[in-house]
Amino acid sequence: VTHALFEPIRLRDVEVRNRLWIPPMCQYSVERKDGVPTDWHLMHLGSFARGGAGAVIVEATGVVPEGRISPWDLGLWNDEQRDAFRRITDLIHAQGAKAGIQLAHAGRKASTWREWEGREGNTPVDEGGWQPVAPSAIAFPGLTTPTELDQAGIDGVVTAFAEAARRAVDAGFDILELHGAHGYLGNQFLSPISNHRTDAYGGSLENRARLLIEIVDAVRAEVGEGVPLVVRLSATEWSDDGYTAEDSVTVSRWLKEHGVDLISVSTGGNVADASIPVGPGYQVPFAAQIRADAEVPVAAVGMIDEPFQAEQIVVLGQADVVLVGREALRDPNFPIRAAAALRYPLEYKPAQYARAYR
Ligand SMILES: Cc1cc2nc3c(=O)[nH]c(=O)nc-3n(C[C@H](O)[C@H](O)[C@H](O)COP(=O)(O)O)c2cc1C
Repeated sequence: VTHALFEPIRLRDVEVRNRLWIPPMCQYSVERKDGVPTDWHLMHLGSFARGGAGAVIVEATGVVPEGRISPWDLGLWNDEQRDAFRRITDLIHAQGAKAGIQLAHAGRKASTWREWEGREGNTPVDEGGWQPVAPSAIAFPGLTTPTELDQAGIDGVVTAFAEAARRAVDAGFDILELHGAHGYLGNQFLSPISNHRTDAYGGSLENRARLLIEIVDAVRAEVGEGVPLVVRLSATEWSDDGYTAEDSVTVSRWLKEHGVDLISVSTGGNVADASIPVGPGYQVPFAAQIRADAEVPVAAVGMIDEPFQAEQIVVLGQADVVLVGREALRDPNFPIRAAAALRYPLEYKPAQYARAYR
């Protein structure tokens, strides 16, 4: 059996021990609504590092308060938040994994309820919510109409990403991911459905990609050449009105030219009623297409729940990294289990658990 999944991968100055990584997954668990990580985040993220993941990527983390998806999201707009992330990166490193963080701005999909609250629409101001901003004053169905960002607002977003990136590196993060997917701000700018601007940020694909590119450039200038940058894209909107997979290839090529090291290839999120053919590995073909046509390393994600399936994706050259989300929530030790299934002698099983694997 091949062991491609457990080959290390190097991105700039960072060598990651394997290609089985944990994607960002919002926990909506900042009960104080101040963006500061809690014991829950420490336990949640640490468990994946213990479980053998190569890299653990922290959930969508707001670069500004109004960029959070909900009031319960993590943030990185101040130094108190930065300092509180340190014990998380220390714990991940102590288990031999690399720490990544997804820097995010939710745009028109900000200020919502956490799923399990079972409430519709936006969180009102008197319960910790706020007025969202977006490329255009076009609401996501079911949510409030956002305020259109002006040039100063756009410049502020770019600066906030760069400052959050600096804090992330200072907090010990090895890998920075910029959220350009799932209908959040970067995706809202990319999509002709949510971006009706007539200035330099709207119209052509080049203009719609401008914000993402400016963020990448500002972050790179702030953190230097050694830090790997990942951009997460929705490769398709699953809608005839949206941009296409070919457009995503073009954008990925531009991102690569601007020094992005890995594209994390997801789909959807900007079109409420899109019908998505969800099934095993359903987004892998988009990852393979971007990898082949834009000639950039990619991560594949989406219902990759089986060890041989994950191995096959890397062996066939469809992706360089495989992200396992919900299956890792069900079993944080999934990488250890995958190694056993593939008969790979994983040298970083916790000694404390050795008796469980004899
Ligand atoms: C609880 C939960 C929270 C998520 N939060 C984020 C997030 O913060 N950022 C993001 O880009 N994707 C997020 N996602 C999407 C996952 O990163 C992943 O792309 C998706 O779950 C599909 O992979 P899977 O089938 O392995 O779970 C989330 C998914 C789940 C289940």
